[in-house]
Amino acid sequence: MAQEKDGGVGSSASQFPHQSTDSCERILSEEELEKLKNDQVLVSEFKQQRLEIDAKKNWDLFYKRNTTNFFKDRHWTKREFEELKACRQFEAQKLVMLEAGCGVGNCIFPLLEEDLNIFIYACDFSPRAVQFVKENSLYHPERCLAFQCDLTKDDLRATISENSLDVATLIFVLSAIHPDRMQQAVENIYQVLKPGGIVLFRDYGLYDHAMLRFKSGSKLGENFYVRQDGTRSFFFSREYLANLFQQVGFQTLVNEYVLRETVNKKEGLCVPRVFLQSKYRKPE
Ligand SMILES: C[S@@+](CC[C@H](N)C(=O)[O-])C[C@H]1O[C@@H](n2cnc3c(N)ncnc32)[C@H](O)[C@@H]1O
Repeated sequence: MAQEKDGGVGSSASQFPHQSTDSCERILSEEELEKLKNDQVLVSEFKQQRLEIDAKKNWDLFYKRNTTNFFKDRHWTKREFEELKACRQFEAQKLVMLEAGCGVGNCIFPLLEEDLNIFIYACDFSPRAVQFVKENSLYHPERCLAFQCDLTKDDLRATISENSLDVATLIFVLSAIHPDRMQQAVENIYQVLKPGGIVLFRDYGLYDHAMLRFKSGSKLGENFYVRQDGTRSFFFSREYLANLFQQVGFQTLVNEYVLRETVNKKEGLCVPRVFLQSKYRKPE
């Protein structure tokens, strides 16, 4: 199974008329329930350890194959700008933001173009991805700093001052990290956010179509799968994510499923996509 194109950060109900938000899980059909029930065999421990060791390499190879062509630019909508606006204490405030797991910058460049009063730190553990960000014609060091960092191992404070960020975004990144290591990544971000700072999160939700499409032999653990290219994907329930952030000390502001029907042209099918969209706050 290949990487799935996702809904991106810049999607709103008006762009996608069949989109809704919900606090309940998607209801599965009998057939889907059966498929998940029958898919119980896990990838061997040995292979799982290899995937963890090779995580950075596998993402770097992904960018070697796809260069900047895979993910679409994530165009920020009015709603998201409102959210960023809400992160400002006064209108003219310059926001300092981190895009954690920035890939080749599909999220940051549209934002840098639209919001002139923002400085963005952007990090990823793939050296190729970081290089692509730096080579983008919109990359200007006075507005943006891209650097290599494994969120689960490298202390962000080596580059960003403690308690200094207004906002951090985690867009389809935590799902690529082993569940046992997600907490380290979230703690790392906590350290550099200022009190009152916000995390904007969007990622795959439980029972997304992509989860149901995995063939047997791809399962690594509960709601956790490996693609053919060795990159991994976790599917979040609301409860799981809220627990993860709350254990680190964050307060939950928003945590809801975004449900959308999209047409898969190749398969000629209407497929149910599920994303989890959330907002967390570091207490003052
Ligand atoms: C699906 S891409 C999303 C990229 C970007 N956020 C976007 O929305 O276009 C996931 C990204 O997470 C990065 N990543 C995965 N694990 C990471 C880790 N432990 N530390 C830093 N980056 C990581 C990958 O290299 C990849 O670029």
